[in-house]
Amino acid sequence: MSRRAAKSSTRKVAASWPGSATRSLRRISGPCSSTRRSIAACALAKLWHTAPRPTERRSRRRRRRGSGVWPQRWSPETPATNCVALLIGKREIGYKEPTSPFRGHFAILKPASERNESAAIEARAPKKLFIKSFGCQMNVYDATRMADVLAPEGYEETAQPEQADLIVLNTCHIRERASEKVFSELGKLRELKEDRKARGQTTRIAVAGCVAQAEGAEILRKQRAVDLVVGPQNYHRLPDLVRESFMAPVVDTEFPVEDKFDYLTPPSEEKIRERGVSAFLTVQEGCDKFCTFCVVPYTRGAEVSRPAAKIVAEAEALARAGVREITLLGQNVDAYHGMGEDGATWSLARLLRRLARIEGVLRLRFTTSHPNDMTDDLIEAFADLPALMPFLHLPVQSGSDAILRAMNRGHGARDYTSLIEKIRRARPDLALSSDFIVGFPGETEADFQATLDLIAEVRFASNFSFKYSPRPGTPGAELADQVDEAVKTERLHRLQALVESQRQHFNASLVGRITPVLFEKPGRHEGQVAGKSPYLQPVQIDGSVDLIGREVLVEIMRCGSNSLFGRLVETPERAI
Ligand code: 5AD
Ligand code: SF4
Repeated sequence: MSRRAAKSSTRKVAASWPGSATRSLRRISGPCSSTRRSIAACALAKLWHTAPRPTERRSRRRRRRGSGVWPQRWSPETPATNCVALLIGKREIGYKEPTSPFRGHFAILKPASERNESAAIEARAPKKLFIKSFGCQMNVYDATRMADVLAPEGYEETAQPEQADLIVLNTCHIRERASEKVFSELGKLRELKEDRKARGQTTRIAVAGCVAQAEGAEILRKQRAVDLVVGPQNYHRLPDLVRESFMAPVVDTEFPVEDKFDYLTPPSEEKIRERGVSAFLTVQEGCDKFCTFCVVPYTRGAEVSRPAAKIVAEAEALARAGVREITLLGQNVDAYHGMGEDGATWSLARLLRRLARIEGVLRLRFTTSHPNDMTDDLIEAFADLPALMPFLHLPVQSGSDAILRAMNRGHGARDYTSLIEKIRRARPDLALSSDFIVGFPGETEADFQATLDLIAEVRFASNFSFKYSPRPGTPGAELADQVDEAVKTERLHRLQALVESQRQHFNASLVGRITPVLFEKPGRHEGQVAGKSPYLQPVQIDGSVDLIGREVLVEIMRCGSNSLFGRLVETPERAI
């Protein structure tokens, strides 16, 4: 079967059996029903590895008539052995090696007794998984869920790619630089795969995330070491896709009919504890705003909000396992409008109020927001929900009305500054951060100066700033008046100098103040413990690791370039 044929058959299976072919097989195959079994066999016939070959069909008929050994089945095996085992019940009676799928259909069936013992031992060994995430926090969250969905398959996470049987690059497409990084990383992984092969070890390489969604099968063409390409909406199918990839490269980037969250394996309590006291929770995905510079609406699709009941259940499980801070994630999180527990549509404010009632949840945050969706009820939540941290990431991108219009942001610079005044009236201790793009097509020096003026007026505690990067398929990339690269670089430096001075000023303003700190991990040095202020600043103190998971008042004594240093104040922590 050609690469292309293999790919299209996989797509067909994915389209006709939502939730993947193997899951459907489990659904439709009941005990002792040969009819069901043959339906199941047909389903899997679309995947090479279980397709009955003509010779097998003949021998199957023979066996059915006389031998009495039915039921028997082909089992796609673990990546470690790379084989397909022929089983009667649980007993293996034969196996096929996987060299045949593309080169001719008929693998030679060998008796189980000939099986290489070391391969069988390897099959029983736990498999290692290495995931590298690029880009935003949503990718960080997705990476944890990928690990969760692969855990029941025996995959344990490793920090060492050389040890990994399966490597997943969870990619970002937002800027050209981010996409390029993926391909240079894949070049290194190809060498690693070859080294491991020389040592008799199999390695699967999967590309997930937004580059996978945007480039699909093109990735297989550009880098032949890749075995599997999976879009951000399909990673719940990873176990099946990994198995299929042993037979032919697989691409799954179709927007599925099923909700991936319904199929994701929840992490064990132990796993949640391992990940720490601060957790992400995706509540909304996709974007309908279509800013003219941005690929997100194309790679992540239309806005979808998860039902509140599922979010609450996930948050409760996190809190039970010791999580004390939850950051709600969404590409457009303040546009959240999910079905509430009472059947009505809930806003983000309503969801936050519900989550704040969960025992153990001390801190709530949300990111990333759009100014046009900062509704009054959300602003009120900042005023009267102590668990909602006084820190807001609210991208403005530019301070020039002309550029904001060209970006299709749907608001002007004054709208943004008035909104900030309103939020600060509701929560005077609120600190802000923002994203800025310099050098959007048509940006003049005066437009850029308007951005600097806005920054000077608002005063940001932190920021993310980027040179405009034309993304294929977005309207911005088609605009004629692209800004010269050198001009972009020079403007970025000027903007970063301003926001950096504001950041340092903000950090310094905390010295001498008493602030609650949620402790998360041991500090850099023996006898130190590290946590975060309400404003996401890292804080270190001399103290015991027993403080981890507790929110305690700390007096800030001094600030370094990135961290604050303080001492414990002898007052009771907030009750959990
Ligand atoms: N070029 C530069 N920056 C971009 N961003 C999104 N698309 C582009 C692009 N094409 C930035 C925006 C957004 C952040 C996540 O990335 O500032 O808020
Ligand atoms: Fe991209 Fe954000 Fe604009 Fe949506 S609102 S298109 S995610 S920049």
